[in-house]
Amino acid sequence: MSIVSVRNLTREYPQGTHTVHALRGVDLDIEPGEFTVLMGPSGSGKTTLLNLIGALDEPTAGTVTIDGRELSAMSSGERSDLRLERLGFVFQSYNLIPVLSAFENAEFVLMLRGMGKSERTQRVMETLHAVGLEGMEDRRPNQLSGGQQQRVAVARAIAGKPALVLADEPTANLDSKTSGELIELMKALNEQHGVTFLFATHDPSVMAAAKRVVRLVDGKIDEDLRR
Ligand SMILES: Nc1ncnc2c1ncn2[C@@H]1O[C@H](COP(=O)(O)OP(=O)(O)O)[C@@H](O)[C@H]1O
Ligand SMILES: [Mg+2]
Repeated sequence: MSIVSVRNLTREYPQGTHTVHALRGVDLDIEPGEFTVLMGPSGSGKTTLLNLIGALDEPTAGTVTIDGRELSAMSSGERSDLRLERLGFVFQSYNLIPVLSAFENAEFVLMLRGMGKSERTQRVMETLHAVGLEGMEDRRPNQLSGGQQQRVAVARAIAGKPALVLADEPTANLDSKTSGELIELMKALNEQHGVTFLFATHDPSVMAAAKRVVRLVDGKIDEDLRR
């Protein structure tokens, strides 16, 4: 079964007297274990599509099904449970909580899930180790470089072993070396731990690592290549 199944997905934004057609009938399936890049020019609908798949926004028409459950048939409480239990998010601007340490940022989702302290601690330490932040557990975001902050964000996204990680231009604020290292990390998490990733990006190093490239143009899928 696909993790994500998108059908005829349409999102319009009313904009004064006219309508912005951000997505115009997108069909897309994401299978477990895939490492997919969503590319396309600025304004082509990448963020809109990720937000709809992540249950952060609601479509004008069409459906998103995650793990066999259609989002529009769920209550908003069920959708937030699904986000918490099944999805991980990485954003362009890291979105870490400034007053919390790396450890606490990564732990946050597990606390919301009600995981016990000892299991949580073990899981966070393992995850921070996996993303190369061993020894930096107690640092706050402003005591970390951009690349390290994004590693904390990746740790937070994967600590709960989600079925799918959605990443919106995760390397946009990183230099090319740091961005290359972050991609290698996510690739390793994909290959060794089977984490399924869906990225929106312009970054050539992310595209080079992808097993599948989906190109959006003007709110429609223009090309879908597996390699
Ligand atoms: N909240 C919004 N209100 C109005 N228009 C929006 C909003 N969000 C996105 N759009 C428009 O929808 C289109 C797709 O945007 P977006 O999904 O952000 O594209 P991308 O991530 O590929 O750059 C663009 O024309 C954008 O201006
Ligand atoms: Mg975007």
